[in-house]
Amino acid sequence: MKNCVLVTGGAGYIGSHTCVALAAAGFEPLILDNYCNASPKVLERLARISGGPAPRAIDGDVRDRALLDRVFAEHSVAAVIHFAGLKAVGDSVADPLSYYDTNVHGSLVLAAAMRAAGVRTLIFSSSATVYGEPDHSPIPESAPTRPANPYGRSKLMVEETLGDLCRSEAGWRIALLRYFNPVGAHESGLIGEHPQGKPNNLMPFVSQVAVGQRTQLTVHGGDYPTPDGTGVRDYVHVMDLAEGHVAALRHALAHEGLLTLNLGTGRGASVLEVVTAFERASGKPVPRTIGPRRPGDVPAYWADPSAARATLGWEARRGLDDMCADSWRWQSANPNGYA
Ligand code: NAD
Ligand code: WQD
Repeated sequence: MKNCVLVTGGAGYIGSHTCVALAAAGFEPLILDNYCNASPKVLERLARISGGPAPRAIDGDVRDRALLDRVFAEHSVAAVIHFAGLKAVGDSVADPLSYYDTNVHGSLVLAAAMRAAGVRTLIFSSSATVYGEPDHSPIPESAPTRPANPYGRSKLMVEETLGDLCRSEAGWRIALLRYFNPVGAHESGLIGEHPQGKPNNLMPFVSQVAVGQRTQLTVHGGDYPTPDGTGVRDYVHVMDLAEGHVAALRHALAHEGLLTLNLGTGRGASVLEVVTAFERASGKPVPRTIGPRRPGDVPAYWADPSAARATLGWEARRGLDDMCADSWRWQSANPNGYA
């Protein structure tokens, strides 16, 4: 199967949505996931969305070299999209070793297995967090990288390693995609994000308040130097992001070398703008209180997405109202996620 794409972490939030976009574009996703932050029930949901069979999936760890060697021997993999990783900033400060092990060591094992198997096309999930506190927004890819926590440093280490690998021998086709703030869900409401325990991120928290699982949102800081005093971020719809991966994959399959791209909308939205849009989309009130600033938060940042537009012809098409409407459809139909 020349269109087979190995999707590590493909059962997770962004990975599952990317599997939908890959299938729609004629690729065949092959998922590798250890389900440490996902449910195998997502596979049946993916089948419902595609109207076909569930994607093939392997239950395993990306750090397991013997498993990867078997996967590459048994499947004709054209390219890899590498989502598998840990992503909670606070956890990375408390337990840096497991972040470096999963995110950095996992990527090294994967890249070595790809090299041995002669598979040299790789799309890597990086993050705008590699920029740390930027000097200016919008942030271009050329901005300095100075991540402020182990999670962000783990992403930058992998970026640098893959850059060195690409320069070390011909044939590699690697895209490093720096996502801004992915939110929303597939428009079917069948797949979405369901964090374990109390959500750290804004949109899942707002959704859980709207559905009545939490009493109120604490807005982390109302005295930032932003138009309404609350933090500003570049929220990007997860299906736009998923389509960005397909565009990056097509580009990488056709061009050798290293590509580093921001995936964002180029527009910032404040916490209060998100909350108001969510209330509009859901018809539910989202009670909130202004609390202190969250340590480590940057007041405001958003992407310069012009390089992705110029290189891939990709740009985000969905706005904040779509992000909220789709999050709400998922949350209200699946208040306990896949359970
Ligand atoms: P997620 O936790 O939903 O998905 C990650 C998936 O990887 C999960 O299904 C998990 O079970 C799997 N996984 C973790 N460790 C593994 C291992 N050792 N072996 C195999 N599978 C493993 O997270 P997500 O939001 O979908 O993020 C996907 C990627 O994008 C991550 O690398 C993350 O760092 C990156 N990213 C996410 C965001 C965001 O805000 N969600 C922003 C920027 C970058
Ligand atoms: C957004 C805004 C908060 C929760 C994180 C990671 C980053 C990337 C994306 C992976 C901020 C405010 C939040 C709440 C609030 N992930 N907020 N009350 O911090 O921009 O980015 O996710 O790569 O690395 O750091 O996203 O959703 O946590 O916060 O007021 O209960 O919402 O202060 O202004 P963040 P977030």
